[in-house]
Amino acid sequence: MADSAAFRRFPHNKSQFRAQFRSFSPSPRRFLLPLLWIIGLASVYIWQRNVIEGVLLFRRPPPRPIPRLRPVAFNLTDFGGVGDGYTVNTEAFERAVYAISKLGRIGGGQLNVQPGRWLTGPFNLTSHMTLFLAEGAVILGIQLKARLNDPLKLLNTNEQEPEDENLWPLMPPLPSYGSGREHPGPRYGSLIHGQNLSDIVITGHNGTIDGQGVTWWKKFRQKLLKHTRGPLVQIMWSEDIKISDITLRNSPFWTFHPYDCKNVVVTNVTVLAPVIEAPNTDGINPDSCENVRIEDCYISVGDDGVAIKSGWNQYGISYGKPSKNILIRNVVIRSMVSAGVSIGSEMSAGVSDVTVENVVVWSSRRGVRIKTSPGRGGYVRNISYRNLTLNDVRVGIVIKTDYGEHPDEGFNEKALPILANISFIGVYGQGVRVPVRINGSEEIPVRNVTFRDMSVGITYKKKHIFQCAFIQGKVIGSIFPTPCENLDLYDEQARLIRPSMSHNFTNIDYDF
Ligand SMILES: *[C@@H]1O[C@H](CO)[C@@H](O)[C@H](O)[C@H]1NC(C)=O
Ligand SMILES: *[C@@H]1O[C@H](CO)[C@@H](O)[C@H](O)[C@H]1NC(C)=O
Ligand SMILES: *[C@@H]1O[C@H](CO)[C@@H](O)[C@H](O)[C@H]1NC(C)=O
Ligand SMILES: *[C@@H]1O[C@H](CO)[C@@H](O)[C@H](O)[C@H]1NC(C)=O
Ligand SMILES: *[C@@H]1O[C@H](CO)[C@@H](O)[C@H](O)[C@H]1NC(C)=O
Ligand SMILES: *[C@@H]1O[C@H](CO)[C@@H](O)[C@H](O)[C@H]1NC(C)=O
Ligand SMILES: *[C@@H]1O[C@H](CO)[C@@H](O)[C@H](O)[C@H]1NC(C)=O
Ligand SMILES: *[C@@H]1O[C@H](CO)[C@@H](O)[C@H](O)[C@H]1NC(C)=O
Ligand SMILES: *[C@@H]1O[C@H](CO)[C@@H](O)[C@H](O)[C@H]1NC(C)=O
Ligand SMILES: *[C@@H]1O[C@H](CO)[C@@H](O)[C@H](O)[C@H]1NC(C)=O
Ligand SMILES: *[C@@H]1O[C@H](CO)[C@@H](O)[C@H](O)[C@H]1NC(C)=O
Repeated sequence: MADSAAFRRFPHNKSQFRAQFRSFSPSPRRFLLPLLWIIGLASVYIWQRNVIEGVLLFRRPPPRPIPRLRPVAFNLTDFGGVGDGYTVNTEAFERAVYAISKLGRIGGGQLNVQPGRWLTGPFNLTSHMTLFLAEGAVILGIQLKARLNDPLKLLNTNEQEPEDENLWPLMPPLPSYGSGREHPGPRYGSLIHGQNLSDIVITGHNGTIDGQGVTWWKKFRQKLLKHTRGPLVQIMWSEDIKISDITLRNSPFWTFHPYDCKNVVVTNVTVLAPVIEAPNTDGINPDSCENVRIEDCYISVGDDGVAIKSGWNQYGISYGKPSKNILIRNVVIRSMVSAGVSIGSEMSAGVSDVTVENVVVWSSRRGVRIKTSPGRGGYVRNISYRNLTLNDVRVGIVIKTDYGEHPDEGFNEKALPILANISFIGVYGQGVRVPVRINGSEEIPVRNVTFRDMSVGITYKKKHIFQCAFIQGKVIGSIFPTPCENLDLYDEQARLIRPSMSHNFTNIDYDF
């Protein structure tokens, strides 16, 4: 109603407008009147529009009701939670988790986090628990004190005052790493943490878990942290974990880190962090995990989108838990600093049986990458990439066998990883500078690589853009750009056309 009234009162086409002007004579004194009149009308019009917008706002559908997914459900407010963005809710979360931990026998409990901003320090989950984040619900990690670079604040700081990061419990290094990833010794726990659990669900109507990592990133860069940063969500030694229909953002470190877990599903999840200056904010890091599915996700972060791992050098070898049976499908990733999907560089217990399918990597440094080095041991095998789209990526497919970074000097240089049985079927995209850079070495040759159906639009018409060293394998059918000479050429019927003369030939060119 309101909008048709507004329309009638305001001249709404050019001829009406002109007609209104013509009815006044052009004398200067009388010219003022129509001007005022127009200004008056315009303000009425603007006021009307605001009223209309107000009405539309008011008519917005009510928030979706929260489904009941467990026999018993609670609201965080039942435990004293306050979603005002200031009140600290750590105890409310802890009380809720404690209540749910008593319900395992009857099928567990659900904790609803309603719309609001729920500030919290780190807390632990329990088995048979569903954490449900309503539309508009944001769990906010407490920020570290912003006293960086502020001389006045530094002066006023009592040396004894605990730093906020002490809210994060210190935990022993992961047994398969032997060391914190950034500092020797213990590491900080994650904002949301779980150990030795089963049947955990974190879901919602696209509510958010926001680690507010910016102060962690700054402190890390200024070398003010004594220990390795903690992930946003880390679940260890657990099984049957499902994360779906939520947004994870601004993790202090890796975003979701399932460690030595079985049966992990991540679907319809958005993972966000600034694409630059958010160091090590990987998206999802399955680490010594079995049966993992990452599907229908959007990931745009400050490091690798997905990074599959299985421990670091001698610690990973002796812990001995490989990552296997992993499916990454229908995922869109942006990683300006690192790669869309990585395997390694910590892969010392081995990574196998991985399928990466229907994945788009855009505006990124690397598309898909396998990284390792002497000392790692382990293997990367039976890895299948299908239907990759690489748009505006500097280097598309990367295998790097001299990726340094060791926890300590105690590793065995002779522990050489095995890289074999890796296939790329269907690689497309445009704006790629170097589509392939597979740098095997004499010690770590890359064996049985298959390329089939590849057509990638390149940025420069240079020759050395399909770079290889110490790689053995085959190309089936014709692919673009022209493959390196290390590979055997087969026709579509899989008949050998031209065997390679030089598996060990090297034309790696990092300048390009
Ligand atoms: C949670 O809060 C909502 C809205 O205030 C209410 O309708 C619902 O009954 C509450 N649920 C529980 C389990 O307390
Ligand atoms: C979570 O549980 C782990 C393992 O028991 C413990 O080390 C850690 O302190 C707990 N975290 C919190 C915040 O209670
Ligand atoms: C969980 O299990 C691991 C490995 O089995 C064990 O080392 C650890 O102490 C357990 N942690 C807790 C909190 O029970
Ligand atoms: C994905 O999440 C959005 C937002 O919560 C939801 O509207 C949509 O239905 C979900 N899609 C699937 C396939 O579950
Ligand atoms: C969920 O929320 C994020 C962040 O607000 C947004 O980028 C994303 O598009 C939403 N997802 C869906 C499926 O609506
Ligand atoms: C290779 O991995 C796939 C899963 O990605 C699995 O189905 C298949 O059995 C594996 N093949 C071999 C030979 O291990
Ligand atoms: C290949 O992947 C793209 C992007 O994910 C998708 O749109 C397309 O349907 C996929 N093609 C096939 C044949 O699955
Ligand atoms: C390729 O890798 C080998 C060893 O893995 C290394 O020595 C060499 O420097 C690399 N090539 C380039 C151009 O970086
Ligand atoms: C590669 O695959 C073949 C056929 O499945 C298998 O026999 C061989 O052991 C695999 N190689 C490695 C290093 O896993
Ligand atoms: C090479 O790898 C493919 C899968 O990528 C596998 O089917 C084949 O059996 C392997 N061949 C050898 C000789 O290992
Ligand atoms: C190529 O390198 C492999 C492994 O590094 C080695 O076994 C083989 O003898 C080399 N072949 C030639 C022709 O040099």
